Amino acid sequence: MRYGHFDDHRREYVTTRPDTPLPWINYLGSEATFGLISNTTGGYSFYRDARLRRLTRYRYNNVPLDCSGRYIYLRDNDTGEFWSPSWQPTRHEVEDYICRHGLGYTIIGSSYKGIEAQTRYFVPLGDSLEIWQLTLTNQRQEPASLSVFSSIEFCLWDAQDDATNFQRNFNIGEVEIEDGVIYHKTEYRERRNHLAFFACSEELAGFDTQRDVFLGPYRGWDHPAAVERGRSFNSEAHGWAPMGSHHVRLSLDPGQTRRIIFLLGYHENPPDRKFAPPGSQTVNKQTVKPVIARYLGEENVEAAFEALRAQWEAMLGIFQVETPNVHTNRMVNIWNPYQCMVTFNLSRSASFFESGIGRGIGFRDSNQDLLGSVHTVPERARQRILDLAATQLETGGAYHQYQPLTKRGNDEVGGDFNDDPLWLILSVAAYLKESGDWSILDERVAYDRRPGSETPLYEHLQRSLRYTLERLGPHGLPLIGRADWNDCLNLNTFSDTPGESFQTVATKEGKVAESLFIAGLFVLAAKELAAIARRRCLAEEAQRYHDEAAKMAAAVLEHGWDGEWFLRAYDAFGHKVGSQECEEGQIFIEPQGICVMAGIGHEDSRAKRALTAVRERLSTPHGIILHQPAYSRYYVHLGEISSYPPGYKENAGIFCHTNPWIMIAEAIIGHGDQAHDYYLRINPSAREEISEVHRCEPYVYAQMIAGRDAPTHGEAKNSWLTGTAAWNYVAITQWILGIRPTYEGLQIAPVIPSNWPGFKARRVYRGVTYYVSVKRVGKGDMVSLSVDGQPIEGDIVPLPPEGQTEVMVEATLK
Ligand code: GLC
Ligand code: GLC
Repeated sequence: MRYGHFDDHRREYVTTRPDTPLPWINYLGSEATFGLISNTTGGYSFYRDARLRRLTRYRYNNVPLDCSGRYIYLRDNDTGEFWSPSWQPTRHEVEDYICRHGLGYTIIGSSYKGIEAQTRYFVPLGDSLEIWQLTLTNQRQEPASLSVFSSIEFCLWDAQDDATNFQRNFNIGEVEIEDGVIYHKTEYRERRNHLAFFACSEELAGFDTQRDVFLGPYRGWDHPAAVERGRSFNSEAHGWAPMGSHHVRLSLDPGQTRRIIFLLGYHENPPDRKFAPPGSQTVNKQTVKPVIARYLGEENVEAAFEALRAQWEAMLGIFQVETPNVHTNRMVNIWNPYQCMVTFNLSRSASFFESGIGRGIGFRDSNQDLLGSVHTVPERARQRILDLAATQLETGGAYHQYQPLTKRGNDEVGGDFNDDPLWLILSVAAYLKESGDWSILDERVAYDRRPGSETPLYEHLQRSLRYTLERLGPHGLPLIGRADWNDCLNLNTFSDTPGESFQTVATKEGKVAESLFIAGLFVLAAKELAAIARRRCLAEEAQRYHDEAAKMAAAVLEHGWDGEWFLRAYDAFGHKVGSQECEEGQIFIEPQGICVMAGIGHEDSRAKRALTAVRERLSTPHGIILHQPAYSRYYVHLGEISSYPPGYKENAGIFCHTNPWIMIAEAIIGHGDQAHDYYLRINPSAREEISEVHRCEPYVYAQMIAGRDAPTHGEAKNSWLTGTAAWNYVAITQWILGIRPTYEGLQIAPVIPSNWPGFKARRVYRGVTYYVSVKRVGKGDMVSLSVDGQPIEGDIVPLPPEGQTEVMVEATLK
């Protein structure tokens, strides 16, 4: 069952009924101001940091679902009837409801009794505000007398404090209202120099800024007193819950259309010019007024929207494909790179499943997210790499997370997730291959942001590898520390106290438990660093990394092969995890993917056998499960993984992040059909028709789909902010379609399904546009290339001479 459809031409997902199984959201903004917006306008806005600069209030896990948002109410002044064109929060019946989620904007509208209302929401480039453009049309035969009420609830900035510290917060709320603009200035009198504003293009019939006056006692957003009676109270908030609401009265002739603009923004004043007149407590508005004036003008708003559209057009234009499969095209051309940008911007901070309070920028997460965005925003990727490296410690280890506002490592979570530093090597390698900008390696970057500790970025990479080598266990395999990629495999915690963090409580010294996943990742990273060293003319060093990689690969084959697949780990007692010897958790997906990707077990049949075991034991129609059998009880020596009921999250859920590793591995060993089959199983567009099972948005990946052991097998959770986005993008574009940046040029090595006659692609790479046309003439993956009509050796298209901006590539697959 579907709740809407894709409009690929407009690059939108169109929801045609409001009661989706879960709020289906979109993101506004990509620079500093961000908003989450659901298909019924639920959600909130923030500036840079979803915890520390929250503009509007949102109540997670509320009932009814998703009922804080950017609400517009319409009221028929003749009958007193009122409704919301976005359905929520009144949930009054509407006709022709539609929500179009597009790239950085959302349009929501409906009709009721001949009054059509549609609002377009977006954040313009370069400024810190949300624009709501409301279009009202009277389709009746007679004139309509209407009232429009806007409403948002302000958050008192720190979302954590806002939701807990009521003894203080009920006293501090302050606003100013001037020329119809509502300014939210809580704490401005003391240490803040920022404010929020809520403006409207029309002359106001009234306003409200005190929530409980606007709503009336014991009423909800579905039924505000001001809307019901058709008149604002002109309330001024002092303490309690400051909000913003404008009331506009208008008459529409039959057929007449009117546009109203609302602006919700964030503004900072210079600390020495906070007040005007100086010495008063009145906000200096001279600095913000020009911004407000600009965007209350319709032409400027249209131009801003056009600029946003053009930016996405350019970003997506970097890679476009035309394959025989619609789900592949749609995800590769539109939604997957879009989701990658959202994860790049927000890491795991703010979604419908991440409250915006808990997590900052993850070291491991963001290095992986970058793999899916480096071609879209190379300059920002460069900066991100430097920021991440600056939270590395002198040991080579890394803070697991940092706060985006301060860019400082998060002490509460700390470090010692032993896979973390290795991901930095992968992200830097991806950046170098994409951009060819080797200067990044010479950038001086501090450790733990400590002045004076700077070394070239290259040394950070050296220390990353060394970090693993200095932490090897009894089998010569990497010690796991608090956890590796699987945050919930906690082999040193032994937590038996409710509420304790499974990750940060370390009971064991950690000198025994080893990770096969880190071993595979190390081999991959050491090979990458060897390639980088070789290109920096450090032949000896490159050889050393090669040798270390070979040594680790040998240790994996000697101590990490279980007979039919790769082991997952050794626990704190030196017992196997992920082995046929185990009662539960006999086979795990992660080591199969990463070891085959790292080239381990290719000389003999082991790589293939590991992937066969995955197919036989872990794959389901809804994707590949993390491990089997699921843990049916809590194992104190395994940690959080066994805390989840079977089939959910890390306990045998389909943890989608890991699936593309298997797709890549299958592609590497030449199984194009299998790789693409796995790709489609979790491809959200391909799952659209089972939306009642999948339940999350059909246009973006979710972190998890419930595994076969769960009663809700096939149900997705935790959509949007997941490494699944970047890795699926890498799997499909670089390994299945096979268009892969390398140090020498663009490699074209497709491993596509055997029944595809071929495909076409356009890739902008280092300033050159490559038009790639792939034709299948035989069943296999042997590729021969001709470049601008001339056959070439090998599968890497060399960079063209300076000045040439277009290259035609014909690839033949035999
Ligand atoms: C979450 C974390 C990520 C981790 C994964 C598996 O997605 O953000 O860092 O690798 O879970 O546990
Ligand atoms: C929880 C989640 C896991 C996440 C971890 C770190 O354990 O299940 O996915 O990575 O928290 O915060």
